[in-house]
Amino acid sequence: VTPWWWLPIAVVVCLVAFSLYAFWTAVFQPQGVFGPYLSPFYSPQVWISGPISPAIWVVWAPLVFRGSCYYYRKSYYRSFFRDPVACARPDGGKYSGETSFPFILNNLHRYTMYVALVVLLFLWWDAINAFTWNGHFYLGVGSLIMLINVVLLSAYTLGCHALRHWVGGGLDCYSCARGGQARHGLWKLVTDLNERHAFWAWVSMFSVAGVDIYIRLLQNGWLVDHCLVCT
Ligand code: FES
Repeated sequence: VTPWWWLPIAVVVCLVAFSLYAFWTAVFQPQGVFGPYLSPFYSPQVWISGPISPAIWVVWAPLVFRGSCYYYRKSYYRSFFRDPVACARPDGGKYSGETSFPFILNNLHRYTMYVALVVLLFLWWDAINAFTWNGHFYLGVGSLIMLINVVLLSAYTLGCHALRHWVGGGLDCYSCARGGQARHGLWKLVTDLNERHAFWAWVSMFSVAGVDIYIRLLQNGWLVDHCLVCT
C-alpha cells in the first residue's frame, strides 16, 4: 500500500522543479528559438531587445493561469501548507479561504483564463509553423513534440473549471436559453476534459518543460533534430 504522504512529496518535488526551471529559462536565457521551433515559454514571440529576456513579457500569463488553477491550488495547499494534507487528515492550520493577500490573487484565475485562451491560439500557430522551414514542408522530431505539447495544453486549458462555468454556468435550463443547445454541447466537451483535469495539468506541465529542454539541447548542439520528412 502506498503511504498517504507519497503524493504530497511528489507534488512538492515536481512543482518546485518546474518553478525553478521556468524561472531559469525565462530570466536567464536570451531566446527560445531553434530553426522552426519556438519554446512555449517565449510564445507569443516578442521582438524587444534589451537586458530583459523576451519570455518575461509573455510567460507571466500562463504561469499565473496555472498557478491559480483550481486543481493546482488543491495540490499545493495540501502539499506545501498541509492545509489539510489529505482527505480524512487533520487540518494543519487555520483555514481562512482566499479572502486575503496573497491567496486572494488566486481569484485572478477566471480573468487569466481569457489570456490563456489567446496564448493557446498562438501556441497552435507555433506548432503549425514547426512543420515549415525555409518555405518547405518540414517534419522533424521537434515538430511532433510541439504538436503533442499543444494538444496536451489544449486538453488542460479547455477543461478549466472557470471555462466550464463560463460556457455552461448561470443557466437553469439549456433548452430555454438562447443558443442553449450549442452551450450544452460546449459544456459537455469541457466537462469531459474537466473530469481528468488533474491528469492534463501534470502531463501538459511536463510537456511544456520538455519542449523547452529539447530546444535548449538543440541550441547547445547536444542533440541533432532528425528530419523525418523534408521536402
Ligand atoms: S481550473 Fe485548472 S486551468 Fe482553470
